[in-house]
Amino acid sequence: MFTDAESFLNQSDLVIFIHFIFVFVFLQASDLIITPATTFKEKPDPSGLVFGTVFTDNMLTIEWSLASGWEKPCIKPLENLSLHPASSSLHYAIELFEGMKAYRGVDGKIRLFRPTLNMDRMARSARRATLPCFDQNELLECIRKLVEVEKEWVPYSTAASLYIRPTLIGTEPSLGVKKPTKALLYVILSPVGPYFASGSFNPISLWADPKYVRAWKGGTGDCKLGGNYGSSIYAQQEALELGCQQVLWLYGEDHQITEVGTMNLFLYWINEDGENELATPPLDGIILPGVTRQSILDLARSWGEFKVSERYITMSDLRAALEENRVKEMFGAGTACVVCPISKILYKGKHLHIPTMENGPQLTTRFLNKLSDIQYGREDSDWAVLVS
Ligand SMILES: Cc1ncc(COP(=O)(O)O)c(C=O)c1O
Repeated sequence: MFTDAESFLNQSDLVIFIHFIFVFVFLQASDLIITPATTFKEKPDPSGLVFGTVFTDNMLTIEWSLASGWEKPCIKPLENLSLHPASSSLHYAIELFEGMKAYRGVDGKIRLFRPTLNMDRMARSARRATLPCFDQNELLECIRKLVEVEKEWVPYSTAASLYIRPTLIGTEPSLGVKKPTKALLYVILSPVGPYFASGSFNPISLWADPKYVRAWKGGTGDCKLGGNYGSSIYAQQEALELGCQQVLWLYGEDHQITEVGTMNLFLYWINEDGENELATPPLDGIILPGVTRQSILDLARSWGEFKVSERYITMSDLRAALEENRVKEMFGAGTACVVCPISKILYKGKHLHIPTMENGPQLTTRFLNKLSDIQYGREDSDWAVLVS
């Protein structure tokens, strides 16, 4: 026999269960409502584009509420959002985003690069931001459909691509600091030109100073939350004022090297034991698990030609290796540029010269070629997912 309290609980559980079955709606690509734009913007020449300033004609939107779950996804003309001024994304940065690309291959087919890794990361960011979870395959199918609708916006060039920006924001109209009961998932698209305008590598210079920290243990650095990026701009400005292009983010008393700007970092060197090693910091909570990072590790491990390590590297490790001529190449890795060679680090008032360019850069170029061959369909790989 149930006590009164138990039977009340069971009844209310039953009500929630029935509500869940009949009212709660999951995100489903088969529900897509497509009402595309009927007027079209002129498509720009990708070689002159400034990153993220031009947007395509349509967007994907999907509303969510705790009461009803996900509404039907819509592909519709790109338009401004109408948000309550108390929306939690505007006040408490309850917001996340992703960054991925669609590429037009040499065969004219459009491909995404390992998009399930972006969907996995987006789901992890959503959990950390207390934003609603979603079916990753269904969202990917909605994104695929959006890119298909906008296929003429994917540049006819193997030096350019269509940047895809999935975004999830809390829209609860409340100043309470709490898990939002309303959210909006949307995806916008922006054609982007070549990262290296000259067609060859432009190495970058970095500023390394432990006074600013990008991420910390127990924080949100391993998720793509907007707050991580807004708060990094101050340090980036200081780097520019000091004549450097990006920040080399350090962590801890021993000045561990973590990431560079918004890229993961790789060092190809002869390590302390005299071995050829490709090293990148481990995913210990302060590193963003980059899709490019994972792909570089997977490729290098499949080649089996040198040691591949996810390990800590401190500034003193790097300085010692530079003094002993053990550094071969150092590069950032991310969707924007694939790989970006590093030539200089300003640390404790001294410029450290990194001999990446003098060394080819052989390995950096090999990764660039291999990954862009897959992205632009010059090489078959199950990392490339066909859009159309
Ligand atoms: C902080 C940070 N690290 C690394 C990366 C590289 O990640 P991905 O290779 O997925 O673009 C990014 C870009 O998303 C980033 O913002």
